[in-house]
Amino acid sequence: MQPEADADPEWVRALSGRSPASVGSALEEAAGQRRLFSYLARQHRLEGRESYVEIGAPLELHALVRLTRPEHVVEVGVSSGVSSAYLLNALALNRRGTLHSIDLPTHPSRRRMAEGPIRDSWTLPLGRSTGWAVPPGLWRRWDLRIGDKRHLLPILASQVPEIGLFVYDVPHRDEDTRRELRTLDKHLPRGAIAIIDHGPGGGLCSALRSWAHTRRASPAGRSGLGLYGARAIRSS
Ligand SMILES: C[S@@+](CC[C@H](N)C(=O)[O-])C[C@H]1O[C@@H](n2cnc3c(N)ncnc32)[C@H](O)[C@@H]1O
Repeated sequence: MQPEADADPEWVRALSGRSPASVGSALEEAAGQRRLFSYLARQHRLEGRESYVEIGAPLELHALVRLTRPEHVVEVGVSSGVSSAYLLNALALNRRGTLHSIDLPTHPSRRRMAEGPIRDSWTLPLGRSTGWAVPPGLWRRWDLRIGDKRHLLPILASQVPEIGLFVYDVPHRDEDTRRELRTLDKHLPRGAIAIIDHGPGGGLCSALRSWAHTRRASPAGRSGLGLYGARAIRSS
Protein backbone atom coordinates (compact mmCIF):
# COMPACT_ATOMS: atom_id res chain seq x y z
CA MET A 1 0.00 0.00 0.00
CA GLN A 2 1.48 3.35 -1.10
CA PRO A 3 0.60 6.77 0.33
CA GLU A 4 -1.45 8.93 -2.02
CA ALA A 5 1.05 11.26 -3.67
CA ASP A 6 -1.06 13.28 -6.10
CA ALA A 7 -4.00 14.75 -4.19
CA ASP A 8 -6.12 17.08 -6.32
CA PRO A 9 -6.66 20.46 -4.61
CA GLU A 10 -8.81 21.78 -7.43
CA TRP A 11 -11.31 18.95 -6.94
CA VAL A 12 -11.54 19.63 -3.20
CA ARG A 13 -11.93 23.34 -3.90
CA ALA A 14 -14.73 22.70 -6.41
CA LEU A 15 -16.61 20.45 -3.98
CA SER A 16 -16.07 22.41 -0.78
CA GLY A 17 -16.23 25.96 -2.16
CA ARG A 18 -13.37 26.88 0.20
CA SER A 19 -10.36 29.05 -0.61
CA PRO A 20 -7.22 27.55 -2.17
CA ALA A 21 -5.32 28.35 1.05
CA SER A 22 -7.80 26.46 3.29
CA VAL A 23 -7.85 23.53 0.87
CA GLY A 24 -4.04 23.45 0.80
CA SER A 25 -3.85 23.30 4.62
CA ALA A 26 -6.55 20.64 4.85
CA LEU A 27 -4.73 18.43 2.34
CA GLU A 28 -1.44 18.98 4.12
CA GLU A 29 -3.05 17.95 7.39
CA ALA A 30 -4.47 14.80 5.74
CA ALA A 31 -1.08 13.84 4.30
CA GLY A 32 0.40 14.36 7.76
CA GLN A 33 -1.74 11.55 9.29
CA ARG A 34 1.25 9.22 9.10
CA ARG A 35 0.27 7.02 12.05
CA LEU A 36 -3.06 6.30 10.41
CA PHE A 37 -1.43 5.48 7.09
CA SER A 38 1.20 3.23 8.74
CA TYR A 39 -1.49 1.36 10.67
CA LEU A 40 -3.53 0.73 7.51
CA ALA A 41 -0.46 -0.29 5.53
CA ARG A 42 0.62 -2.72 8.28
CA GLN A 43 -2.83 -4.35 8.42
CA HIS A 44 -2.80 -4.85 4.65
CA ARG A 45 0.73 -6.25 4.75
CA LEU A 46 -0.27 -8.69 7.49
CA GLU A 47 -2.97 -10.06 5.20
CA GLY A 48 -0.66 -10.22 2.19
CA ARG A 49 -2.60 -7.48 0.40
CA GLU A 50 0.09 -5.43 -1.24
CA SER A 51 -2.40 -3.66 -3.39
CA TYR A 52 -6.02 -3.01 -2.59
CA VAL A 53 -9.09 -1.48 -4.11
CA GLU A 54 -9.78 1.77 -2.43
CA ILE A 55 -11.31 5.00 -3.49
CA GLY A 56 -7.99 6.46 -4.65
CA ALA A 57 -8.49 9.83 -2.95
CA PRO A 58 -8.46 9.26 0.82
CA LEU A 59 -6.65 12.55 1.45
CA GLU A 60 -9.34 14.49 -0.41
CA LEU A 61 -12.08 12.75 1.63
CA HIS A 62 -10.25 13.67 4.84
CA ALA A 63 -9.90 17.28 3.70
CA LEU A 64 -13.57 17.54 2.68
CA VAL A 65 -14.72 16.38 6.12
CA ARG A 66 -12.38 18.82 7.84
CA LEU A 67 -13.48 21.72 5.63
CA THR A 68 -17.25 21.11 5.66
CA ARG A 69 -17.64 19.58 9.16
CA PRO A 70 -20.65 17.35 8.37
CA GLU A 71 -22.77 15.94 11.20
CA HIS A 72 -23.57 12.82 9.17
CA VAL A 73 -21.47 11.16 6.49
CA VAL A 74 -22.89 8.18 4.58
CA GLU A 75 -20.59 5.76 2.80
CA VAL A 76 -21.50 2.76 0.64
CA GLY A 77 -18.67 0.25 0.08
CA VAL A 78 -16.17 -0.32 2.88
CA SER A 79 -14.04 -3.39 2.13
CA SER A 80 -10.94 -3.23 4.38
CA GLY A 81 -11.91 0.32 5.39
CA VAL A 82 -9.31 2.68 3.91
CA SER A 83 -11.84 5.37 2.95
CA SER A 84 -13.76 4.76 6.20
CA ALA A 85 -10.60 5.20 8.26
CA TYR A 86 -9.78 8.56 6.66
CA LEU A 87 -13.38 9.76 7.03
CA LEU A 88 -13.46 8.64 10.69
CA ASN A 89 -10.11 10.22 11.44
CA ALA A 90 -11.34 13.56 10.08
CA LEU A 91 -14.57 13.31 12.13
CA ALA A 92 -12.47 12.57 15.22
CA LEU A 93 -10.38 15.70 14.57
CA ASN A 94 -13.61 17.69 14.10
CA ARG A 95 -14.83 16.25 17.43
CA ARG A 96 -18.27 15.86 15.91
CA GLY A 97 -20.20 13.72 13.47
CA THR A 98 -20.93 10.11 12.63
CA LEU A 99 -19.93 7.95 9.69
CA HIS A 100 -22.73 5.60 8.61
CA SER A 101 -21.30 2.92 6.33
CA ILE A 102 -22.97 0.08 4.43
CA ASP A 103 -21.09 -2.91 3.08
CA LEU A 104 -21.99 -6.30 1.73
CA PRO A 105 -18.67 -8.12 2.09
CA THR A 106 -17.29 -10.19 -0.73
CA HIS A 107 -15.89 -13.58 0.32
CA PRO A 108 -13.21 -15.24 -1.80
CA SER A 109 -14.46 -18.36 -3.58
CA ARG A 110 -13.18 -21.78 -2.47
CA ARG A 111 -11.52 -22.13 -5.86
CA ARG A 112 -9.63 -18.82 -5.40
CA MET A 113 -8.53 -19.85 -1.90
CA ALA A 114 -7.24 -23.17 -3.20
CA GLU A 115 -5.17 -21.33 -5.82
CA GLY A 116 -3.00 -19.67 -3.16
CA PRO A 117 -2.66 -16.17 -1.70
CA ILE A 118 -5.69 -14.01 -2.42
CA ARG A 119 -4.96 -11.18 -4.81
CA ASP A 120 -8.53 -9.82 -5.04
CA SER A 121 -7.94 -7.14 -2.47
CA TRP A 122 -11.57 -6.24 -1.85
CA THR A 123 -12.43 -9.74 -0.63
CA LEU A 124 -12.43 -10.47 3.09
CA PRO A 125 -9.36 -12.27 4.43
CA LEU A 126 -10.22 -15.43 6.41
CA GLY A 127 -11.39 -14.62 9.93
CA ARG A 128 -11.74 -10.89 9.24
CA SER A 129 -14.86 -8.78 8.86
CA THR A 130 -15.72 -5.59 6.97
CA GLY A 131 -13.53 -2.66 7.96
CA TRP A 132 -10.79 -4.99 9.21
CA ALA A 133 -7.98 -2.47 8.68
CA VAL A 134 -9.62 0.42 10.59
CA PRO A 135 -7.82 1.29 13.84
CA PRO A 136 -10.03 0.35 16.83
CA GLY A 137 -9.56 3.85 18.27
CA LEU A 138 -11.63 5.27 15.41
CA TRP A 139 -14.70 3.03 15.79
CA ARG A 140 -16.45 5.32 18.29
CA ARG A 141 -18.00 7.47 15.56
CA TRP A 142 -18.79 4.55 13.26
CA ASP A 143 -22.25 3.19 12.54
CA LEU A 144 -21.32 0.22 10.31
CA ARG A 145 -24.17 -1.77 8.80
CA ILE A 146 -23.61 -5.05 7.02
CA GLY A 147 -25.90 -5.98 4.13
CA ASP A 148 -27.01 -5.09 0.64
CA LYS A 149 -27.28 -1.37 -0.12
CA ARG A 150 -30.62 -2.06 -1.82
CA HIS A 151 -32.15 -2.94 1.55
CA LEU A 152 -30.04 -0.86 3.92
CA LEU A 153 -29.93 2.54 2.18
CA PRO A 154 -33.71 3.15 2.47
CA ILE A 155 -33.56 2.21 6.17
CA LEU A 156 -30.58 4.49 6.76
CA ALA A 157 -32.31 7.32 4.88
CA SER A 158 -35.29 7.03 7.23
CA GLN A 159 -32.99 7.36 10.25
CA VAL A 160 -30.46 10.04 9.30
CA PRO A 161 -31.95 13.54 9.09
CA GLU A 162 -29.29 15.37 7.04
CA ILE A 163 -26.35 13.96 5.15
CA GLY A 164 -23.49 16.40 4.58
CA LEU A 165 -21.31 14.03 2.56
CA PHE A 166 -22.30 10.92 0.59
CA VAL A 167 -19.54 8.62 -0.68
CA TYR A 168 -20.56 5.79 -3.01
CA ASP A 169 -17.76 3.35 -3.83
CA VAL A 170 -19.45 0.14 -4.86
CA PRO A 171 -20.04 -1.67 -8.15
CA HIS A 172 -23.29 -0.23 -9.46
CA ARG A 173 -25.80 -0.08 -12.27
CA ASP A 174 -27.01 3.32 -13.31
CA GLU A 175 -30.70 2.56 -12.66
CA ASP A 176 -29.95 1.41 -9.08
CA THR A 177 -27.82 4.47 -8.33
CA ARG A 178 -30.53 6.72 -9.73
CA ARG A 179 -33.12 5.12 -7.42
CA GLU A 180 -30.77 5.32 -4.43
CA LEU A 181 -30.02 9.01 -5.04
CA ARG A 182 -33.78 9.63 -5.25
CA THR A 183 -34.19 7.91 -1.87
CA LEU A 184 -31.47 10.05 -0.30
CA ASP A 185 -32.29 13.30 -2.08
CA LYS A 186 -34.43 14.93 0.61
CA HIS A 187 -31.74 14.18 3.19
CA LEU A 188 -29.06 15.96 1.16
CA PRO A 189 -29.44 19.64 2.06
CA ARG A 190 -28.05 22.61 0.17
CA GLY A 191 -24.26 22.35 0.38
CA ALA A 192 -24.29 18.54 0.62
CA ILE A 193 -21.67 16.73 -1.43
CA ALA A 194 -22.25 13.45 -3.30
CA ILE A 195 -19.24 11.50 -4.59
CA ILE A 196 -19.40 8.42 -6.80
CA ASP A 197 -16.50 6.22 -7.85
CA HIS A 198 -16.89 4.90 -11.40
CA GLY A 199 -13.79 2.69 -11.38
CA PRO A 200 -10.47 3.33 -13.12
CA GLY A 201 -11.07 5.38 -16.25
CA GLY A 202 -14.85 5.36 -15.69
CA GLY A 203 -16.90 8.35 -16.90
CA LEU A 204 -19.55 10.30 -15.01
CA CYS A 205 -22.70 8.15 -14.70
CA SER A 206 -26.02 9.56 -15.77
CA ALA A 207 -27.45 9.05 -12.24
CA LEU A 208 -25.00 11.54 -10.70
CA ARG A 209 -25.26 13.81 -13.73
CA SER A 210 -29.05 14.11 -13.37
CA TRP A 211 -28.93 14.49 -9.58
CA ALA A 212 -26.40 17.32 -10.04
CA HIS A 213 -28.60 18.91 -12.70
CA THR A 214 -31.68 19.00 -10.45
CA ARG A 215 -29.60 20.52 -7.63
CA ARG A 216 -27.85 23.07 -9.91
CA ALA A 217 -24.51 21.47 -9.09
CA SER A 218 -21.57 21.22 -11.47
CA PRO A 219 -20.06 17.72 -11.34
CA ALA A 220 -16.30 17.76 -10.89
CA GLY A 221 -13.93 14.90 -11.67
CA ARG A 222 -10.90 14.06 -9.57
CA SER A 223 -7.90 14.21 -11.92
CA GLY A 224 -6.69 10.83 -13.14
CA LEU A 225 -9.54 8.81 -11.57
CA GLY A 226 -13.10 7.84 -12.46
CA LEU A 227 -14.19 9.66 -9.33
CA TYR A 228 -16.81 12.40 -9.59
CA GLY A 229 -18.55 14.59 -7.09
CA ALA A 230 -21.09 17.38 -6.96
CA ARG A 231 -22.16 19.90 -4.31
CA ALA A 232 -25.85 20.75 -4.13
CA ILE A 233 -26.36 24.45 -4.81
CA ARG A 234 -30.12 24.44 -4.28
CA SER A 235 -32.37 22.48 -1.91
CA SER A 236 -34.25 19.38 -3.08
C1 LIG B 1 -14.32 -0.94 -3.94
S1 LIG B 1 -14.75 -1.69 -2.42
C2 LIG B 1 -14.83 -0.33 -1.28
C3 LIG B 1 -13.49 0.29 -1.01
C4 LIG B 1 -13.49 1.35 0.08
N1 LIG B 1 -14.44 2.41 -0.17
C5 LIG B 1 -12.10 1.97 0.27
O1 LIG B 1 -11.87 3.08 -0.25
O2 LIG B 1 -11.26 1.36 0.92
C6 LIG B 1 -16.45 -2.05 -2.66
C7 LIG B 1 -17.13 -2.75 -1.48
O3 LIG B 1 -18.54 -2.79 -1.74
C8 LIG B 1 -19.05 -4.06 -1.37
N2 LIG B 1 -20.32 -4.30 -2.08
C9 LIG B 1 -20.50 -4.90 -3.30
N3 LIG B 1 -21.83 -4.95 -3.59
C10 LIG B 1 -22.49 -4.34 -2.56
C11 LIG B 1 -23.88 -4.08 -2.30
N4 LIG B 1 -24.82 -4.46 -3.15
N5 LIG B 1 -24.20 -3.47 -1.14
C12 LIG B 1 -23.23 -3.08 -0.26
N6 LIG B 1 -21.90 -3.30 -0.47
C13 LIG B 1 -21.53 -3.93 -1.61
C14 LIG B 1 -17.92 -5.00 -1.76
O4 LIG B 1 -18.02 -6.27 -1.13
C15 LIG B 1 -16.69 -4.20 -1.27
O5 LIG B 1 -16.47 -4.44 0.10
